[in-house]
This record gives sequence, structure tokens and C-alpha cells, in this order.
Amino acid sequence: MFQSVQPAPPDAILGLTEAFKADPNPNKINLAVGVYKDEQGNTPTLAAVVQAERWLLENEPTKSYLGIDGSPGYGQSTRKLLFGEGSDLIDNGRAVTFQCPGGTGALRVAGDYITNNHSGATLWLSNPTWANHHAIFQAAGLPTQKYAYLDSETNSLDFDAMTAALDAIKPGDVVLLHGCCHNPTGVDPSAEQWRAIAALLKEKQALPLVDFAYQGFASGVDEDAAGLREVLGVCDEVLVCSSYSKNFGLYRERVGALTLVASNASQAAAVQSQVKLAVRRNYSNPPAHGALVVERILDDAGLTQQWLDELTKMRDRINGQRSALRQALDNRGVQLNAKGNGFIEQQNGMFTMSGLTKDQVAALKSDHAIYIVGSGRINVAGITPSNLDTLCDAIAAVTGG
Ligand SMILES: Cc1ncc(COP(=O)(O)O)c(C=O)c1O
Repeated sequence: MFQSVQPAPPDAILGLTEAFKADPNPNKINLAVGVYKDEQGNTPTLAAVVQAERWLLENEPTKSYLGIDGSPGYGQSTRKLLFGEGSDLIDNGRAVTFQCPGGTGALRVAGDYITNNHSGATLWLSNPTWANHHAIFQAAGLPTQKYAYLDSETNSLDFDAMTAALDAIKPGDVVLLHGCCHNPTGVDPSAEQWRAIAALLKEKQALPLVDFAYQGFASGVDEDAAGLREVLGVCDEVLVCSSYSKNFGLYRERVGALTLVASNASQAAAVQSQVKLAVRRNYSNPPAHGALVVERILDDAGLTQQWLDELTKMRDRINGQRSALRQALDNRGVQLNAKGNGFIEQQNGMFTMSGLTKDQVAALKSDHAIYIVGSGRINVAGITPSNLDTLCDAIAAVTGG
């Protein structure tokens, strides 16, 4: 049977990492995959995580299965981070959290839930969006459409085009919004724009699905949840897919969550029972280790502070690299946008949509061993003091700047 199987194309992003690893050039630079790097180009385990792991080694009483929705303590801590300390939604039964294998697992479970329970719904994705969104929801059998998002003239949000597109959706459709640090553009709505988007979704009777993979990478843990909290202030029903891959550096442990918010506790319980079916058929119940690390850190005031300090350090380094990149391009007279390079500092999170064309991205790879996603998305967190000049010289060369 296997004789007739054709090889699949490599994943658009992870495939680039494989090509990067095989590249013999000693000056090669990988700015493709969405992983935080420190000044030395490493992705170290956070100290708070190591401490929590030590604690778990001594204190985890069993390796027996978790429930289908995971650890209740993890769910509660997740709701606190999403909704803010003191929010009614933490414990009033309207919000239920499923511990999931990464943000990706949470998105897939959400997709399965929607397909199985809301037939006829279309999921709307921003154009552009994280490439895996299309694949995940296609695999879940959910039809997708795109709404306008990026103004490529200015590398900022095309708010009018976005709201015009969302104005055309039908009741019962689902709209995926990036909670902050939009991937791949780094372009987020302002608080005022979030309010308007939330009001529009409410008017259209659409279900918001907030993909929140970078909480704490833009301005801070609470500040970054401002958009989500605007939506919750207006819409009674919301799905949130969150991830601890980036903000706890737990990438390979696969730690995420699907949190559903319903109008009341009995509706939440009904939706919860349907989501349980989707989980049971998918992976039965979630992996424990990474989630218990997060739960331990968020349970212990000292560890929480240590984690917040480490998160601040990551955020500050990324923002510092944004300024360094802008400055280094300005110094070389390279203009990535007709309005200048200021957009690099205005965007949030790990990514910047650089405006580099497909051909320029290809030339960076073939002539300079610099790996960037074909769309021109640069992982700013991969820039270090030692590779900045090589990178900017190469960008100057391929853009003729
Ligand atoms: C927008 C977005 N959503 C979800 C995810 C999934 O993250 P995880 O590694 O936790 O599955 C990512 C990861 O890159 C992402 O960028």
C-alpha cells in the first residue's frame, strides 16, 4: 500500500528549520521559526520552570491519568491570567477550561467542537494569519474564509477593510482574532478598535475565537489581555485558545488551554460535555508535566514573580531588537516601507512583517544563508547583537538599499 504514497511538501516554517540545520554556512541565521532566543542565540529553560520541575519531582504523587479536561487548578490559574485577578468569570461557572496539548491542540479541539455542534458555521481568519490555522481547521472539517487585516502600504492595520469584511459575515459564524502579537504581522488593534470589533461581532451574532499564544510578549500579562477583556465585556459567548509555549518557554512540553465562556453555567456545562467528546476522540486526556509546571509556578507567589521577571526580560530584549533593527536599517539607508522603518517598532511580539518580497527572501537564503518565512515575516527574537550587522548588510544587498 505504501508504494503509491507521494511525499508531502515540507511544512512552510518547520521545513525551513530543517534546511537551516543542513546549511554548512557558519554565518547562517534562522529568523523563521517562532521561538524566543536570548543574546547568545539560545532558548534556555526558564529558571522558574526548573524550580517548579524540581518541586514536582519530589511532590507529584502519581502518574495516573488526568481527567479529560485536565487539572482543575491549572484551569483556574489559566482563567485568572486570561480574565484578571478578581474577575467573576474565574469561578462563577460561566467559563470552563480544558488543559490541551499546546495552543495547537486547543485550536484543533475548538475546531472539532464547532464542526460537530454548529453546522453551517464558517470560520473567518485574518489575511494573513498563522499558516497552520488554515491547516488545523481544514483538518477539523470547518470551512474557512479570510477577512482583510494588513495594509501592506503602511504595514499597519487596515481597520476599515477589516470591519467592512466582518460586516458581511452571517449570524453563527466564528471569527478568529489574535489576542495580541498578531502572527505573522505583529500588528494589533488599539483598545478602541478592539471595542469596535467586539461590538460588531455582537451585532452580527458571531462567536469570537481568541487565539492567545503570546500573552506577555507585547506590553505585559494584563496589558496584553486588554483586547480579550474588551470582547468579554460585550460578548456573552467566547472561545479562547491560549498557549504557554512562548511565555513560559515550554514549547516542547505542549501546554495550552481551551477556555469556553457561555452566557450561564448550565450552557457552559452543556458545551463542556460536547468538548469532552472531542477531546476523548482526539487524545483522550492531556499530558500532565508542562501543565503541572505552569500550575505550580502560578500557585506560588515567589515563583510567579520570578516567572514575570523572566518574561519581562524576554519582552524587553525583543523590543530592544526592534529598535536595533530599525536603527541598523536606517544607518544603511534601507527603507523597508515608503513611510520609513518606524513600523518595526510599532508592531508587537516576536514577529515583524518586513515587507521583503518573495524574491528578496529567496536571495537572503541562497546568497546569505539567512532564513525568513516566504511572506517576509522576520522573527525579531532571533536577532542578536552578533548577527544584526550581517543581517542588515544582507538586507541592504538584496533590496539594493
Ligand atoms: C498564532 C499562534 N497560535 C497558536 C500557536 C500554537 O502554539 P503551540 O506551540 O502552543 O501549539 C502559535 C505558535 O506558533 C501561534 O503563533
